[in-house]
Amino acid sequence: MKIIGTGSSHPKKVVTNQMLSDMVDTSDEWITVRTGIKERRIISEENLEDLAIDAARKALDNAGISAIDLDFIICANVVNEFITPALSCIIQGAIGAHCPCIDLNGACVGFIYALDLAEAYYRSGKVKNVLIVCAEEPSRMLSWQDRSVCVLFGDGAGAAVLTAGDNVKATHLSAASSTTSLYQKHELQPSPFVTKPNSNLPLVMRGQDVFKFAANASLADIKFLLNETGYTADDVDKYLLHQANIRIIETVGEVLKQPKEKFPTNIQKYGNTSSASIPILLDELNRGGELKKGDLLALSAFGAGFVSGSCLLKW
Ligand code: UT7
Repeated sequence: MKIIGTGSSHPKKVVTNQMLSDMVDTSDEWITVRTGIKERRIISEENLEDLAIDAARKALDNAGISAIDLDFIICANVVNEFITPALSCIIQGAIGAHCPCIDLNGACVGFIYALDLAEAYYRSGKVKNVLIVCAEEPSRMLSWQDRSVCVLFGDGAGAAVLTAGDNVKATHLSAASSTTSLYQKHELQPSPFVTKPNSNLPLVMRGQDVFKFAANASLADIKFLLNETGYTADDVDKYLLHQANIRIIETVGEVLKQPKEKFPTNIQKYGNTSSASIPILLDELNRGGELKKGDLLALSAFGAGFVSGSCLLKW
């Protein structure tokens, strides 16, 4: 396939490091040095579906195709107000599409898993035009009293439209179950048959375990793709990594011996927006005129599961 349109949407509320240091025992210096984040957007008056729909419409507009022409909608999402119906169904109705749709919980790797799924459906001959929307509100999953987690995340939505083409050169997905390093449990309705207590705990993250996994997985995934396709690290024009921590991005760049300029970031403005982070970054680069036709892009993401994934594509 090839990407022919991108879009993104952000909540209005900007939460700076200074605002957080008035809420919990942290500082702008700690957050900046350890993560690279300066501020993030947090949902207040919006609904996540509004952001998802806005990003989807912008991506369709950018692609120059109508919602009627879509053959499939994939929405990557971890948490939103609806357990059912799927967020993709809500988006489908709002934009006026008639195609099938599915939600995918791939945590921070949702965009890469969605790309892989779209490519597989396309290769099977089932679809031509696919809309991917990644919409996340981690701010509703975490404890705003937990300084080790609340400073890291932000809310947002990113979208991409794909159609027939041979620009996706390779994708690679992996999973290595580790359910105690990064997780959150639902609060479920009480049942007379369930004897264990209900869980309503916020997101738990063992930061250093996740950091090590993330850096290793990203490197392994990128090297896998290079090996498979015959491209070298130098051939890649831009590396779009999941915006979780600037130090992870720098580590990957150093090991691959690639200059910083090849690793665009926007973590400073948005923090970690889970699966939305790569499509938001892609949209910024696309609309900013920073991607040239034929540029080779390496996408790499990692997150709860653990799962990770990478994609090599020509712009
Ligand atoms: O999207 C999913 C993928 N997620 C990630 O990739 C996140 C990966 N992990 C990380 O990015 C980093 O591990 C963190 C940014 C979460 C933490 O950075 P770190 O360098 O690993 O710090 P640490 O957890 O080792 O904590 C160092 C110190 C501790 O204090 P002591 O024990 O040394 O006294 C923490 O209690 O920093 C303390 N600390 C804080 N201090 C000020 C933890 N959070 C904060 C905070 N402000 N917000």
